[in-house]
Amino acid sequence: MSQFPDPKSLLHDAEKQVDHARSPEALAEVRITWLGRKEGRLTVLLKQLGSLSMEDKKRYGPALNELKSSLEALLTSKEKTLAAQERARTLEKDTLDITLSGSPYVHGRLHPLSQVMNELVSIFRSLGFVCADGPEIENDYYNFESLNVPANHPARDMQDTFYLAQGSGQGTQQALFPEHGAPSTEPPTLLRTHTSPVQVRIMQKYPPPIAIVCPGRVYRHEAQDATHLAVFHQMEGLLVDEGVSFADLKGTLARFAQLFFAPTIKTRFRPSFFPFTEPSAQMDVSCWICEGSGCPACKGSGWIELLGAGMVNPKVLSGVNIDPEKYSGYAFGVGIERIAFIKYGVNDLRLFYENDIRFLEQF
Ligand code: DAH
Repeated sequence: MSQFPDPKSLLHDAEKQVDHARSPEALAEVRITWLGRKEGRLTVLLKQLGSLSMEDKKRYGPALNELKSSLEALLTSKEKTLAAQERARTLEKDTLDITLSGSPYVHGRLHPLSQVMNELVSIFRSLGFVCADGPEIENDYYNFESLNVPANHPARDMQDTFYLAQGSGQGTQQALFPEHGAPSTEPPTLLRTHTSPVQVRIMQKYPPPIAIVCPGRVYRHEAQDATHLAVFHQMEGLLVDEGVSFADLKGTLARFAQLFFAPTIKTRFRPSFFPFTEPSAQMDVSCWICEGSGCPACKGSGWIELLGAGMVNPKVLSGVNIDPEKYSGYAFGVGIERIAFIKYGVNDLRLFYENDIRFLEQF
């Protein structure tokens, strides 16, 4: 059958078309041209085989089948090549350009009050003190009674606080919550007004010698303004041993002021009153802004009030079964906000709690 095409030249045709196909779409066209189910050139020829003579069938049959498998193999291999080229092109387009500069990373930092607290603790650690901790929810005994502030003592006026419903019983607690019924023997529960109760808790737990500092949050029933907060921080200090004198207190606190503010800072002690210390004192530091000559920061006096301190009252020592004839001690309490306020010249304590980035970024 002379009109039946030669399989070899067919293969040659097909090879050329496969070779020219530059995209998966173009190659799919070639596949259809040759192997399309209805009109593919090879499909049509294979269908026509049946109508050939026996002799031609033998001649063209195997050759066409061979052509079909060669063509399949050719198309599959070209499909793979084109897909690989396509992948390479997308990768090239999608690669990350690491030469682009990134957006700036904003570093956080410790809050100024945390910074001050950490610095205070590390100074006292360097002087041999250990950091202690105590509960913020206290009871009347630790917050007042054990510190020689009995129920109707005028010193309580300065430290009004928030009472909690649980552990109801005597005093204010009973008056506030009559529904709790008969007075219990438990002292009323309250939010501690100072860190001083930690002194008592530590002395109950450990025998002298004791040297601790205790930073922490305290609460007062206070109308807030530039110099008063209802929630603030203090750091308590306590040292108890044999033969501790007021000179030890002065020396330690003067050294602390030099380390915290400036080596040239001067300190002075003036008589004061706290029920849990006897004698009591207030320590002032020389104003480092005007160096003592008087300026608005020190209200013209050249001095700034820094903290309260004193020798631990023998009554407090007896209360925790420490013999005041054998042991003596000193204590001090410093306001963290106050010290930060002085150190950084901040004029409104509320700024520490407003979380304004423009303020916080300055520390
Ligand atoms: N607890 C006092 C207050 O909050 C501060 C204080 C004064 C603490 C004298 C002391 C101290 O340990 O000795 O006002």
